[in-house]
Amino acid sequence: MTKILQLELDFNTQCSSTPHPYFHESPKGYKGLSSFHKYWGKKPIEAWKLLIENLTEPGSIILDPFLGSGLISKECIDRNRRFIGFDINPISIELTNLYLQLPNYLVLKKAVAQLEKRLKDKINQMYLLSNGSIATHFLWDKNKIIKVWTKKGRKRIEVDLTVTEINSFQEMNGYIPQHFREMRLFDNSRINAQKTLSIADLFTPRALQSIDWIKQEIELFDRDIQRALLLILSSSLGQMSKMVFAVSKRGKTKGKPVDKIEVGSWVIGYWKPEKHFEINAWNCFENKAQKLLKAIQDINLQQKAIPAKSLSDFFKDDSLDIYISKGDSETLLQNIPSNTIKVILTDPPHGDRIPYLELSEMWNSVLGFDSDYAGELVVSNAKERQKTVKSYNQKLNNIFSECDRILVDNGLLVIMFNARSQSHWQSIERLEKTTNFTYIGCYSMKYSSGSVVQDNRKGSLKTDFVLLYGKNVNDSFIEKIRDKFKTITNWSNLYPQKFF
Ligand SMILES: C[S@@+](CC[C@H](N)C(=O)[O-])C[C@H]1O[C@@H](n2cnc3c(N)ncnc32)[C@H](O)[C@@H]1O
Repeated sequence: MTKILQLELDFNTQCSSTPHPYFHESPKGYKGLSSFHKYWGKKPIEAWKLLIENLTEPGSIILDPFLGSGLISKECIDRNRRFIGFDINPISIELTNLYLQLPNYLVLKKAVAQLEKRLKDKINQMYLLSNGSIATHFLWDKNKIIKVWTKKGRKRIEVDLTVTEINSFQEMNGYIPQHFREMRLFDNSRINAQKTLSIADLFTPRALQSIDWIKQEIELFDRDIQRALLLILSSSLGQMSKMVFAVSKRGKTKGKPVDKIEVGSWVIGYWKPEKHFEINAWNCFENKAQKLLKAIQDINLQQKAIPAKSLSDFFKDDSLDIYISKGDSETLLQNIPSNTIKVILTDPPHGDRIPYLELSEMWNSVLGFDSDYAGELVVSNAKERQKTVKSYNQKLNNIFSECDRILVDNGLLVIMFNARSQSHWQSIERLEKTTNFTYIGCYSMKYSSGSVVQDNRKGSLKTDFVLLYGKNVNDSFIEKIRDKFKTITNWSNLYPQKFF
């Protein structure tokens, strides 16, 4: 029997006894802004803080060619570092720009109130029960509604409906959205996607109509507020969809056995459980709006980053804080002058772990963004995309050689990585042979418990590695960096060992 390849660290000789303060305990978990919008593979902000504070000084230029959730950008700006960031995924760029240019709390609050005035009652008409209350949740089993709830104060109460009323809620006359495009997907059983999957398969016509109305109204606001409102909409899509599973629990109340059904959540991919919830679409939007408002209100110091319009402006004028661009990093990196960047902190797609664009397609279709599938760095199970291990390694090699070119001497490349198969590690394994990088060491990064749904397949690694490389560095420089990091739990000067 062939064993799945595993990479593990041999910490026996390298473990230190005094953990670094940030890693003394598990990261606190995503709160406030970091928990507002789902993004797969989101790293804990403590991980960025540690690297930014230990490897750079105020004014240093940090680059991340794979922004993802974009949280890194805010961590850099909050510490007065200058920052360049790229990502091919449009929603990643929108999120980054939101964190860097947060709207004013009162202005956003007013915009949400305006939307409420225009839309809440109109949407709730579609959830109106014959007793005059508004349905908050329907529980579906295949094509039948089997339970309905409404709210009394803060309590969810079940209501009995007549067969006729149930039938009218079950009616599924198709609704064709007017304000966003259809999804473009591929056959990929790993994420339950099919080429023919339509946005209308993921939502009831009621929910689809609500999304369309909300999108239409949002288009009337100014760009900054519009961005925040659109991201509130995309962040609420999962809970508005048919992908919210029902959790059945058996328990006892006052000695009597009871069956409880709890509302689950949309997790990952396009799986529509036969037994699923349909949640009132306005409520989903409003919950997320309140979450963002609270997060903005809780931020003490709101630092608005000054963006550069072009890369040449960014390099000419050091009062400009950020340059953010959407596109393929392999191409975008070529526009950066040689020997200009101090530190690259990055977390590329880890082989076949997460097909980001395929998973983000629901968001990008509703927000009206195009997905550049051809340019994505990924190994995908969607055969049609021809995203193979070979093409993945080639592209990542090219990206790493660009990183080598643009870093200054003694500059650092920090890679967060974790792939299940050894073949996906090829570009990293050959880094020292093909570039001016020397390996310095690595540590395993802690996640807050249950914080990230990454990859639950057999043989998946449970943690990410943070690997440090220096460009044209000498021994004393390497020692200096190792000295700074040796107090981190699980720091090792060794490259991850392979066990078969
Ligand atoms: C592992 S995620 C980054 C997660 C991020 N570090 C965080 O904490 O949220 C990798 C990112 O690479 C992006 N990506 C994939 N191919 C790309 C390409 N060719 N150019 C730029 N970004 C790309 C994906 O869209 C995804 O957001």
